[in-house]
Amino acid sequence: MKYRILGSTELNVSVIGVGTWQFGGEWGQTFSQADVDAIFDEARTRNINLIDTAECYGDHLSEQLVGRAIARDRDQWVVATKFGHKFHAPFERTEPRSPQDIRVQLEESLKALRTDVVDLYQYHSWSDESFFDDDVLAVLNQARDEGKIRHIGNSVGSNRNVKQLEKSREMGIETIQIVYNRLDRGPEEAGIFDLCRGQNLGVLARVPLASGYLSGKYQPGHSFEASDVRSRQPDDTRSQRIAEALRIQTEEVPDGVPMAQWALAWCLRDPVVTCVIPGCRSAEQVASNATASERLESVRLD
Ligand SMILES: NC(=O)c1ccc[n+]([C@@H]2O[C@H](COP(=O)([O-])OP(=O)(O)OC[C@H]3O[C@@H](n4cnc5c(N)ncnc54)[C@H](OP(=O)(O)O)[C@@H]3O)[C@@H](O)[C@H]2O)c1
Repeated sequence: MKYRILGSTELNVSVIGVGTWQFGGEWGQTFSQADVDAIFDEARTRNINLIDTAECYGDHLSEQLVGRAIARDRDQWVVATKFGHKFHAPFERTEPRSPQDIRVQLEESLKALRTDVVDLYQYHSWSDESFFDDDVLAVLNQARDEGKIRHIGNSVGSNRNVKQLEKSREMGIETIQIVYNRLDRGPEEAGIFDLCRGQNLGVLARVPLASGYLSGKYQPGHSFEASDVRSRQPDDTRSQRIAEALRIQTEEVPDGVPMAQWALAWCLRDPVVTCVIPGCRSAEQVASNATASERLESVRLD
């Protein structure tokens, strides 16, 4: 496994992390504790140390599953979670965002994660209107002073949100999380990465497999179960993504290289991206994704 320093946080994180939206039950599968334990046993074996979860992947459900899975060696992990949403039912959220709401959510996350401190606490897709709220920032700074969070991050809703990005350092934000993958190069085009370099922000590339399409395993006509979030995409979007992924597989992915590994290495080719956080369904996927770390130099990426 390779590691990079996450911006100014000084955290040394594995370039491949584990994304855990799947554990909340919105990806067509209910995860047992044994399923999640197996995923983290594999992550340990592969020297992965970064986990991304959130308050609304289930009602703190993903956090609970993660918390139990890493309770015995919590200090070995960098745990990132988020605030600003409340899960009600699959695909249903509200956005409680008062300073008091954030205090409550942090306590609930700490309890679910079975920890005293969150390493990276991230705004979860906030609109500009609610993001620039000094009272919320004061709550976060207080939580940091109290030792309940180590660093503040921003998981931005739009991958072109220059307005929020350029205020990062001023607000004490040390990392961003953004959609970035071979099918969506928005952050490059919008100058987001230049802003990150200029402020020494750590970058977590989310949705690095384009929700799984960049695994190359879906064929034209594929449909997802109703309980899978991807079934909510319009049919033509799904068809386009599958077609584009298959074209890339033919034209860009070297023979013999699993496409998912190539796609993760592709995201990491510019060191401005600190790490990728692929969502994982199984220990086998974790093992394969970890191998992408070995392909950074050997795969011709562009
Ligand atoms: N607003 C936010 O802050 C936000 C939004 C979205 C995501 N995130 C975070 O980013 C993480 C990653 O995004 P994501 O999960 O939406 O999308 P993703 O990582 O692009 O895709 C995840 C899917 O890719 C497939 N996959 C993973 N590893 C594979 C492998 N080795 N071989 C073949 N297929 C593989 C699986 O599909 P199958 O299930 O079909 O096997 C998996 O469900 C999330 O889990 C979450 O932690 C944050």
